Amino acid sequence: MKGMVFTEFIEFVEKEFGFEMSDQIITQSDLKSGGVYTAVGTYDFQEMLNLLITLNKKTNIPLNDLLQTFGKHLFFRFVQMYPHFIDRTKSLFHFLSGIDHYIHVEVLKLYPDAELPTMTIEERTDDHIVIDYKSERKLAYFALGLFQSATAYFNEPCAINFKNIKTDGSEVKFFITKSK
Ligand code: HEM
Repeated sequence: MKGMVFTEFIEFVEKEFGFEMSDQIITQSDLKSGGVYTAVGTYDFQEMLNLLITLNKKTNIPLNDLLQTFGKHLFFRFVQMYPHFIDRTKSLFHFLSGIDHYIHVEVLKLYPDAELPTMTIEERTDDHIVIDYKSERKLAYFALGLFQSATAYFNEPCAINFKNIKTDGSEVKFFITKSK
């Protein structure tokens, strides 16, 4: 997983739970890297899980809620860091349809070793889109948070539902429907 996700995560924890918490999760999780991250480095995904599990133990907030809140936060950081990838003049569904074949493609040009999910558009109408998420990292709740902030950013309120296609969470279908 790219270092940028780690540096953003540590900043997110600092902002939400305070410096002491971010310091404690770094020292109390078993981190191969020692918890020193640079934005352009690449680190074992297991380290992210270890950080999340320690944060979960300390705060009693369920892991999925932590992932979702981090996803919500990270979307707006992506907007700040990569404004040229996120064209506000286009619609939400235009943006979502481009995650797989535009945004994440550009991400791979910047970071060839990025580990990305596939996000396949299965249906799209004017008020409804179905997106199939697949990833061995099983971060559907992180994707949910990103989707939620995207609807807010484009100011197109939606109901977002999802169901597991594989019980282990490696494939999840999202149903995003505009609120009337
Ligand atoms: C609603 C929009 C988006 C969704 C749902 C989404 C989904 C995801 C998910 C779920 C992951 C975690 C990896 C995995 O599950 O295998 C991920 C990773 C990532 N995404 Fe996206 N993404 C979105 C938009 C963006 C945007 C706008 C950018 C930046 C231009 C971006 C850049 C990245 C990067 C850098 C990673 C980390 C790759 C790594 O750690 O190796 N994504 N994305």
